[in-house]
Amino acid sequence: MGLRIIVGADEAGVDYKETVKADLEADPRVDEVIDIGVNRGSDDFDRPYPLVGTAAGEKIAAGEADRAVLFCGTGLGVAIAANKVKGIRAVTAHDSFSVERSILSNDAHVLTMGQRVVGLELARRLVAEWVGYTFDTASASAQKVAVLNDYEGC
Ligand code: RB5
Repeated sequence: MGLRIIVGADEAGVDYKETVKADLEADPRVDEVIDIGVNRGSDDFDRPYPLVGTAAGEKIAAGEADRAVLFCGTGLGVAIAANKVKGIRAVTAHDSFSVERSILSNDAHVLTMGQRVVGLELARRLVAEWVGYTFDTASASAQKVAVLNDYEGC
């Protein structure tokens, strides 16, 4: 079964969100792409990054999606916001190794990037890599992630 992936952004990340959305929709490893906005020409265009990040985190926490990839100017704001949702782990990563470890070490639900930080082609490549990683629940990393869940009571 493929992944259900949320894509989201504020106005500073919307262009990358659109391109990555199209990439994910064409990716056979992905079953569903859920666009939570913002969208150009839509009433939601002014939605600030905290509401994008928390909306993504809440959907994952509710079991409506497996992962999210979010964009803002830096990637930082949407990660901070998604991390406010209980049980959600969100990271900003702009390099291949960190993207790999975000899944294999941290079992992070949310990857964020900054449209004002990283080139579009690198962002697309990193998302394609990210889709290919699966967390090993029998790994030593799982015990460390469990410490985070215990801290949060989930
Ligand atoms: C623009 O609002 C910018 O501050 C935002 O996209 C993000 O970079 C915040 O972390």
